[in-house]
Amino acid sequence: MKKKAIKYFLIATLLTSSVLVFANLTESGTQENTTEYKVGEAPFDKMMEVLTHKRCVNCHPSGNVPRQGEDSHLHNFDVVRGEDGHGLAGYTCNTCHTDENNDYSGVPGAPHWALAPEIMAWEGKTRVEIAQQMMDPKRNGGRSAHDIMEHLTEHELVLWAWEPGVDAEGNPREKPPVPKDEYIQAVKEWIEAGAVIPEE
Ligand code: HEC
Ligand code: HEC
Repeated sequence: MKKKAIKYFLIATLLTSSVLVFANLTESGTQENTTEYKVGEAPFDKMMEVLTHKRCVNCHPSGNVPRQGEDSHLHNFDVVRGEDGHGLAGYTCNTCHTDENNDYSGVPGAPHWALAPEIMAWEGKTRVEIAQQMMDPKRNGGRSAHDIMEHLTEHELVLWAWEPGVDAEGNPREKPPVPKDEYIQAVKEWIEAGAVIPEE
């Protein structure tokens, strides 16, 4: 009899503790949705710290010339956009840029190397303006929010920014200020929460 009582007692304890664990889980679940982020920690802030970095903006310039380096100077060798962002006929980007970085010559590389269309220019724009145009299918190549999430987290030219190689002098290029995994997480969180663009 005593043994049985202990058994029931144990079962009862187990049941209550699982109810408690469950209650805790749901509580933290709702908590997550109402979290107030500090400036600099919100998913949007993190994402935009990357998008406004020169590793992205050098290839999303206004005007017709790519930018280079940490000081974003105009691209050497009279390189221009051309009709489709791949340079001029006979003098395209892949005359020099290949699918991977060349750390001997300092020419960066990744698949599909080309200049972002002028309609997707980010240079000189505020982070709010960049986000607005990026989410606008009329200005982002007809992409849905889901397409943008995939582009931002999977595209080779985007991910290149965290493997940027070395420049012509052999100095490593600076990476964006947010680690890749954290950035990917922030993009997903921001888009899944409705891609709300703050006022400033
Ligand atoms: C080597 C040049 C290059 C680099 C570097 C580059 N991009 Fe792009 N980007 C492009 C091109 C070209 C397109 C247009 C491709 C298309 O429409 O299919 C594009 C399009 C995009 C788009 C979709 C259209 C839009 O503007 O909404 C996003 C988003 C984007 N890039 C984000 C980034 C981010 C973030 C980085 C940096 C981490 C980056 N890109 C770095 C060349 C580049
Ligand atoms: C004649 C060779 C050549 C051609 C053609 C060329 N590039 Fe470059 N590009 C380079 C070299 C070399 C560098 C590296 C310079 C450095 O960082 O020291 C470079 C760097 C860049 C960078 C800088 C990356 C960064 O963030 O610092 C971008 C962006 C770029 N090129 C885009 C293009 C695009 C787009 C085209 C075609 C429209 C193009 N390039 C055509 C040789 C070339």
